[in-house]
Amino acid sequence: MIKTDFNKYTSKFINGVDKGKFRKQEKRAISEIVSGSLSYFNDINSFVSREELNNIINVANYVRDNCDVFLVIGIGGSYMGSKAIMEALLPSFAKKKPEIIFLGTDLSSDYYKEVIEYIKDKEVILNIISKSGNTLEPNIAFEVISYIMGGKYSHEQLLDRVIITTDSKEGSLRKLANEEGYYTFEIPKKIGGRFSIFTPAGLFPLAVAGIDILNLLEGFVGGEAYIPLAVEYAVTREALFKKGKYVEAFTVYNPKMYYFTEWLKQLFAETQGKAEKGILPISIVNTRDLHSMGQFLQEGNPIIFETVIGIENASIIKIVKYDKTLNEINKIAQDKVCIAHYKDKTPSNLISIDVLDEYNLGELVRFFFTAAITGAILIDVNPFDQPGVEKYKQLIADALNNIFIF
Ligand code: PA5
Repeated sequence: MIKTDFNKYTSKFINGVDKGKFRKQEKRAISEIVSGSLSYFNDINSFVSREELNNIINVANYVRDNCDVFLVIGIGGSYMGSKAIMEALLPSFAKKKPEIIFLGTDLSSDYYKEVIEYIKDKEVILNIISKSGNTLEPNIAFEVISYIMGGKYSHEQLLDRVIITTDSKEGSLRKLANEEGYYTFEIPKKIGGRFSIFTPAGLFPLAVAGIDILNLLEGFVGGEAYIPLAVEYAVTREALFKKGKYVEAFTVYNPKMYYFTEWLKQLFAETQGKAEKGILPISIVNTRDLHSMGQFLQEGNPIIFETVIGIENASIIKIVKYDKTLNEINKIAQDKVCIAHYKDKTPSNLISIDVLDEYNLGELVRFFFTAAITGAILIDVNPFDQPGVEKYKQLIADALNNIFIF
């Protein structure tokens, strides 16, 4: 269940901004999302079919039984969502089987060297995820790891150890899969990278990790109830922007949510940061960052607003000295920080879920999808492209003479 409050620590900052001015775009956003050209976003079948879901579960079970290390290769929207959900829900210290390693998010040879060394005597299965199939970083990772795996597995064995998640028809990965006979999952044409958690791009690695993906998808379905609140949040952000709050800090009070804020940064930056528009997303993990960023939020340049994502119920650890649970103290900290920031120049939007689990994260992801898309509609930019990202991709590809395109 999601609860929100966009007034308590926000309203005084948007006094004078006529939210009614946004009503026209707001109505347009709601009708596009609920019944118009974006209504496919409300249908879980647009993200994954029942048949594909069964395949995901079966193949994930196979992977869990047949490797020590599961390598997930992808960048941006192709890995960020599953990484965020895994970090939030998996135990931090338990030894995991298989161990999941993400690769293809950078070009650091030092990191590569460590991964190669680490996996060399282990049983490995890899999943490369790339919608376009042509992205430099994952393709390099795939080339390097395929070479290592080719040294210890026959081609026949590799067919059970390489899984490609990509477009159904286009791109060099699809071509490669067709030529070599690798097992594939499809990312539906209409669903872009940063919206792909509920597609095989996100679901398959999550299923391998032991996340209850059916519950996550139920959360997506339950998230329908929060479309009006997500639109209200998008309008509030825009009103804050009009009042000079150009930066949005996604603030959490649980370090397990750190990658969720990274995912949010990616979602909002790529969905809205174009045509010289958009609110700059940053992330904060409290109470840790109260001892660094907290200073800026309290007394620095007043261009920031916070969107605090709280969790109502957590594990119970009693702190005898204060006769309270640690979670109660955490929530007191969250509230007092909002008050302190509010007294100076920093507003806070409040969003909370009742407990950190698959269902609630499914709802929350859908909430933020809706808000990000609505926000883009409000400022008149295309939510689904990322022309800036394409520019750097093209420049590097040109510089390398396309040698990394299969
Ligand atoms: O959200 C997006 O669309 C991007 O972040 C892409 O996911 C990212 O650029 C990777 O692209 P691809 O999946 O084509 O390799």
